Amino acid sequence: MPHDERFQELARSALSGRLSRRDVLRRAAVLGLSAPVIAALLAACGGSSNKTPTTSSGSTSTSESTSASTSPSGSASPMASPASSPEASPSAEASPSGSPMAMTFDPKVAPPVPDPSKGKQFSGQKITYYGDSVGAGNDFDKVLAAQFTKDTGIEINIVPKPQDSTQNFATYQRFFQGKSSDVDVMMLDVIWPGSLAPHLVDLSQALADEAKLHYDTIIQNNTVDGKLVAMPWFGDFGMLYYRTDLLEKYGYDKPPTTWDELQDMATKIKDGEKSNASFTGFVFQGDAYEGLTCDALEWIASAGGGTIVDENGKVTVNNDKAIGMLNKAKGWVGNISPRDVTSFQEEDARNVFQGGNAAFMRNWPYAYAEGNSSDSPIKGKFDVAPLPAAGGEKHYGTVGGWQLGVSQYSKSKEASIEFIRYMTSPEVETWRAVVGSYVPTMEKVASDPAVVKAMPFLENLQDVVRVTRPSGPAGENYNQVSTYFFQGVNKILNGEDASGVVQQIQQQIERVMG
Ligand code: GLC
Repeated sequence: MPHDERFQELARSALSGRLSRRDVLRRAAVLGLSAPVIAALLAACGGSSNKTPTTSSGSTSTSESTSASTSPSGSASPMASPASSPEASPSAEASPSGSPMAMTFDPKVAPPVPDPSKGKQFSGQKITYYGDSVGAGNDFDKVLAAQFTKDTGIEINIVPKPQDSTQNFATYQRFFQGKSSDVDVMMLDVIWPGSLAPHLVDLSQALADEAKLHYDTIIQNNTVDGKLVAMPWFGDFGMLYYRTDLLEKYGYDKPPTTWDELQDMATKIKDGEKSNASFTGFVFQGDAYEGLTCDALEWIASAGGGTIVDENGKVTVNNDKAIGMLNKAKGWVGNISPRDVTSFQEEDARNVFQGGNAAFMRNWPYAYAEGNSSDSPIKGKFDVAPLPAAGGEKHYGTVGGWQLGVSQYSKSKEASIEFIRYMTSPEVETWRAVVGSYVPTMEKVASDPAVVKAMPFLENLQDVVRVTRPSGPAGENYNQVSTYFFQGVNKILNGEDASGVVQQIQQQIERVMG
């Protein structure tokens, strides 16, 4: 078999979970693959060879993306580092020859539509797209939509979706209840296909060839009762950002690996930096919304406390390790973390960290490109590591990610599908990976030399276990399950003792799960 085909075969086997980590490493070595490509493969296949650990309650409750059919393991694919943000002066970087796609990466110049003839049939139609609103996402959307309009004649009305995923869900529900045609294409969180499927167009025929390019596990996540209701757009997972310059200044030669180390380091650095009254130790997503579900899931899993609900639907949240960890997080508030972290979402945390006012931050990969943009005060002064864990436990990162789908009530379904065909094309995913550090959902993109080169931190994250929220077992009740969970955790962060609250969360979720 030629080298390329053997690589494809290895990638397919790794992604389908047929190979252990050791097998992937061995075969990759035989193929002479470089370290970043191996890291990408390992991350894509779940990042760890470790089998599902047993929680304190004795149940197996850790989802690894390769094992659960509903879990979007493609989200655990490589992340790309940025060339610059859209505000930055254009930078051009050509993929080396031999790259699957020879492209230039300028944040203000989108790739052309690969086959514009399909879209041109619908020239003159206008569609409304609920697009990105976090970080530079809206700027990238504008550049891409303008290119699409230029090439096809289809006009795009871009509406930034609510930044808060929980509110965003409610907004779509309202549209759908009213069978509104005011939205055509929309961004969909990885946890929503099960709930929103009845209102979304089946893309499995129109985008059959394109779907084959994406990691199968995300396609499965987005397939409900045989309908492909959304196309994967980018993946996400939780990571620890830390200030390299400050760690060095305070005598640390590596980032924290345990939560206690993080607490000690943050305390020392915050104390040393107290001449800056705005400076804080650790920022994260503490508001009562979906983001807190992601953060708290990481805390609990990394303390050996399981995943709230296990893959069989058994509610496992009420256990001593979960309670201990949530009380520990409560102790951060007002000490290493600001009091108002209990109302922080992604952008609040990023603004503090990127402003140079925090030593550590939990966030998603998009913040990497932002932090390295030309006008960022922390450009070149931070790095990324796995989120800490309790001593002896594994490191976890919650799987996130976004898809694009078409509303069942759209009056321009074909034009909408053409827009999605472009937005989820390998060309656009590659461009977005390089200019915005959005995690690709296709092996073809993840292994592109330009993308591989732009991921200096990926190797550090290859042993992180990807943990999925229980949207599979909870099905259409997921939003309610998550709401009980984040509301309870937010109460704990605001001062309530975890043991009583966690017991209540357990009962509430058990009632929903039936
Ligand atoms: C990110 C993730 C998404 C998650 C959200 C929570 O956008 O990609 O899956 O629900 O954060 O705030």
